[in-house]
Amino acid sequence: MKRVRYSGVLLAFLGILLGTAVYTSLLFAQDTAQVKLSGDAYEQAVRFNQRQSFENGRRIFRFDTFGNERFWGDTLKLHQAIQGAKLDGVGDGVSPRAALSLGLKVDADALPRALQNDIARGRVNLDDPATTLTLLKLNAVVGVKGFFTPDDNRLRAVGITCALCHATVDDSVAPGIGKRLDGWANRDLNVGAIVAAAPDLSVYANALQTDQATVRKVLMSWGPGRYDAELNFDGKAFRPDGKSAATLIPPAYGKAGINLHTWTSGHGNVTYWNAYVAVTQMHGQGTFFDPRYNDPQRFPVAVRTGIWNTRGPVDLVTSRLPDLHTYQLALLAPKPPANTYNAAMATRGQALFTGKARCATCHVPPLFAEPGWNAHRGEEIGVDNFQADRDPEGAYVTQRLAGLWAHQRGGFYHDGRFATLLDVVNHYDAHFQLGLSAQEKNEVVEYLKSL
Ligand code: HEC
Ligand code: HEC
Repeated sequence: MKRVRYSGVLLAFLGILLGTAVYTSLLFAQDTAQVKLSGDAYEQAVRFNQRQSFENGRRIFRFDTFGNERFWGDTLKLHQAIQGAKLDGVGDGVSPRAALSLGLKVDADALPRALQNDIARGRVNLDDPATTLTLLKLNAVVGVKGFFTPDDNRLRAVGITCALCHATVDDSVAPGIGKRLDGWANRDLNVGAIVAAAPDLSVYANALQTDQATVRKVLMSWGPGRYDAELNFDGKAFRPDGKSAATLIPPAYGKAGINLHTWTSGHGNVTYWNAYVAVTQMHGQGTFFDPRYNDPQRFPVAVRTGIWNTRGPVDLVTSRLPDLHTYQLALLAPKPPANTYNAAMATRGQALFTGKARCATCHVPPLFAEPGWNAHRGEEIGVDNFQADRDPEGAYVTQRLAGLWAHQRGGFYHDGRFATLLDVVNHYDAHFQLGLSAQEKNEVVEYLKSL
């Protein structure tokens, strides 16, 4: 009797063990993407995949450099400029104050509580580049990852992540220091000035067939919140009117359900762009292929450098694309605080948006872009085609308007040509001859601010 009970317990135990093993293997079986499971187990595996993929994607978005420290460190030697001559680098070094003034952000959650308090009370020396190294060691500089020598004393390279341009912080500890806000466009970030600080820009100069001084001039022409993601394809640094060809950094939230992304239509969907930007702009080690750019007339730099068909010896990007995609699509557009717009006017503006002002013909609520092919030639929206034509498909993407309130700095449209939302509405009013009264225009603006 006793023996029977004993073996019963043992059997039950083995059963649990086996069950766990089967369950675990089913959960991980999604990696092979070809499991034959019963309905329940399959559904479990799908749910598990969703959770894991989200977590991985967030880590990639925030911290993955795709091996691009080889470019920003070994090639451009940006880490030397950050470190400064006193610490084996070059120049004055980049103090935290200088970094913040370049629009870089600090993730307060990565800082020990005592350090947070000291910063909030102004007790930390923000003028010392050594403090920047401490922040990098804590992995606290949003979008910048430091790689240190084995003794941990010197920066040996830096790499960048998606969060550099597409995240900011809520300033809860101090201006530029707070909790991460992933997906929000960093319109304070002066990418051009940061890159221009690198001691060696010969790689850009060679690709663009110019000298480093010219490269620096181009980089300094961008200004805060702007970046030129097409320069190393077409070599066009300036528009025909002489202004910089850089575009505004768009938000990376509110993308689910929408077909085309970025300002122009040829960059396809989110995952296309992730590969494009990770390999050809962030210079991660990976694969990028798009034969539409193999066109020496339109994309001479891409053809000369072969960037349209990049096949690194190692690929640290392709395997990250699925999880990065999951995370990207989960990033919601943030709702505006209630006190930032006039609700009564916004309600009337909504009626105008879908009615008299005809905005909803393109910005179809609640996506605020066309379900389907969301792109237009410049003449349809009353602007030139310069930026559209820097792209293989030659059209502007209907921007989804949710979360507009969170990226008003730098203006609107791809190049920020309209300083305010009222300027945008005035433009449409003239272009489409809408005949909106001043009151109606303001109502549409309040509605836009409420999205
Ligand atoms: C150096 C700044 C910078 C970095 C780093 C960067 N991006 Fe971007 N991103 C941009 C700019 C600029 C655009 C607009 C490009 C265009 O339309 O020509 C853009 C566009 C996008 C868009 C489309 C937004 C829209 O309006 O539809 C998404 C999504 C996006 N990026 C995600 C990412 C991800 C994911 C990464 C990391 C793999 C990344 N970006 C890295 C600057 C950056
Ligand atoms: C024919 C289609 C179309 C119509 C109609 C239209 N839009 Fe747009 N909208 C676009 C496109 C395309 C863009 C992107 C322009 C660019 O990239 O420079 C855009 C951009 C915008 C932006 C700038 C978004 C940003 O992130 O900078 C705002 C705001 C906007 N539209 C509001 C409106 C309002 C308000 C109306 C109605 C008065 C309207 N649109 C009517 C196609 C349209």
